[in-house]
Amino acid sequence: MPREKIFSPYICRMKHLIAPSILAADFTRLAEEFAMVNESEADWFHLDIMDGRFVPNITFGMFIVKAMKKMAQKPLDVHLMILEPERYVEAFREAGADVISVHYEACPHLHRVVHQIRESGAKAGVAINPHTTVSVLEDLIQDIDQVCLMSVNPGFGGQKFIPRTIPKIRQLKELIVAANAPTLIEVDGGVGLQNAEALLRAGADVLVAGNSIFRAEDPMSTIRQLKAIEPVRSF
Ligand code: DX5
Ligand code: ZN
Repeated sequence: MPREKIFSPYICRMKHLIAPSILAADFTRLAEEFAMVNESEADWFHLDIMDGRFVPNITFGMFIVKAMKKMAQKPLDVHLMILEPERYVEAFREAGADVISVHYEACPHLHRVVHQIRESGAKAGVAINPHTTVSVLEDLIQDIDQVCLMSVNPGFGGQKFIPRTIPKIRQLKELIVAANAPTLIEVDGGVGLQNAEALLRAGADVLVAGNSIFRAEDPMSTIRQLKAIEPVRSF
């Protein structure tokens, strides 16, 4: 997939992106779940990597990402919830990551890591926890392809959306517009049909959704409905 296609909302104000979070998929039938997302109107696969240290939970590593890459016909959005992510950037890129997001809270030298990600050939994402204010990204926003606003505390799927995320999206949007940066805003955690329109109206570009898609009676239809939302935006 050409890189410009992955981030086409940069080029023109087009539709928001939907990134189903595989964490909520049925891992006993992963190939079918990937096929469903491939056939659906979803844009990316969101893959949650947890190390049992930055977050309490452990998921999977680059070996599994590499296998997932073979099943995926859409870009892989890899969310690293790990300490010292700089040790693994190239490995996840080689495994097939198209976007690599690291946590602000896990990177004392975030500027260096963001550039390391870009040099690996991936798009660089920075995720921030619910307690982290968006203004900490002010001096780096020009260099970040995507900010992932965590709308739950990272570590588990199926948690309740934290409402304070909505004003954070607006603040981040203002910061991005003021800097004339092409950065996308991704929202991750507790996202579904009940809050998607409000998130998009506030300025979200990418909606990550796990349980609301994979536990739905008809996941493909849920993806279609999420994609079909036409928010009234004031920017
Ligand atoms: C949470 C993960 C999320 C999670 C979202 O730590 O980063 O991507 O899978 O799952 P839902 O949509 O079920 O909250
Ligand atoms: Zn995630």
